[in-house]
Amino acid sequence: MAVQMKGKDILSIHELTREEVRQILETARILKMKNLTGELFQPLKGKTLGMIFQKASTRTRISFEVAMWQLGGYALFLNPADLQLKRGESIADTARVLSRYLDALMIRTHAHEDVSELALHSNVPVINGLTDRFHPCQALTDLFTIAEKKGSLAGLNLVYIGDGNNMAHSLMYGGARVGMNVTICCPPGYCPDEEITKQATADAVATGASIAIEHEPARAVEKADIIYTDVWTSMGREEEHAERLKIFAPYQLNSALLKGAREDALVMHCLPAHRGEEITDEVIDGRRSIVFDQAENRLHLQKAILALVI
Ligand code: CP
Ligand code: NVA
Repeated sequence: MAVQMKGKDILSIHELTREEVRQILETARILKMKNLTGELFQPLKGKTLGMIFQKASTRTRISFEVAMWQLGGYALFLNPADLQLKRGESIADTARVLSRYLDALMIRTHAHEDVSELALHSNVPVINGLTDRFHPCQALTDLFTIAEKKGSLAGLNLVYIGDGNNMAHSLMYGGARVGMNVTICCPPGYCPDEEITKQATADAVATGASIAIEHEPARAVEKADIIYTDVWTSMGREEEHAERLKIFAPYQLNSALLKGAREDALVMHCLPAHRGEEITDEVIDGRRSIVFDQAENRLHLQKAILALVI
């Protein structure tokens, strides 16, 4: 049975039920099929999405913009440098005012608390387009892509190698909701947030999944169905780049590491990739890589979210 998601904020996968996650993935599947057959589906005629980006973006911005267009609506890019937010207007007042014009808001920013604050004072659904803690639209897309490639999700082993960052957090929450085992293989000192790890581990009980932290890439990839990586230096941490290059070097996803993985293990990356750092050309362009299908699926998955919440 369909669950009602109209008006729902999409802030983190932890705040979505299993049924809601299932519905988003199923809707994405249907909408992708409509795209492939060229069938028009425009339930959002006359609806407008506002998009605030406080950090750079290629995929999120363009896929949301195209998603609204394809659904019959309109997307408005809001440059924070041009908003009164920049001159001290509060997030709460911004939310109250924008809710009077828009049908949904998407925001990419630094502090997750700012997105929660925006959602608290907004009368329209707020979608998290990435914060320092979470990237739910990407992780939901990743679940959709894995299901597409592997046929199912429950019982699979996803091994994420690299920084215990926003992607690691969202993949743990996502895996927990769908019964997929998630291992984060990171350098000591760069583990995912403890509280989030505890919550994801608790969420995983309901679906029989497991959440694990590892530090040995060669051991971690042995049983992986999916090997996932992300940049070592996330947006906003650029000053740590040189130090991170040294610390993360043993965690590079390269051909030598893949030799120890199963023949059918797939490689994923949310992109943008820093080729030669966290992943080599050989691997990202290799036969196991599904990163560009993954990038395409942002469009289909976000269309599902927009159609469900607006
Ligand atoms: N993966 C992702 O969110 O890409 P962008 O930073 O280009 O939006
Ligand atoms: N962890 C990365 C993800 C980019 C899509 C960052 O926050 O920069």
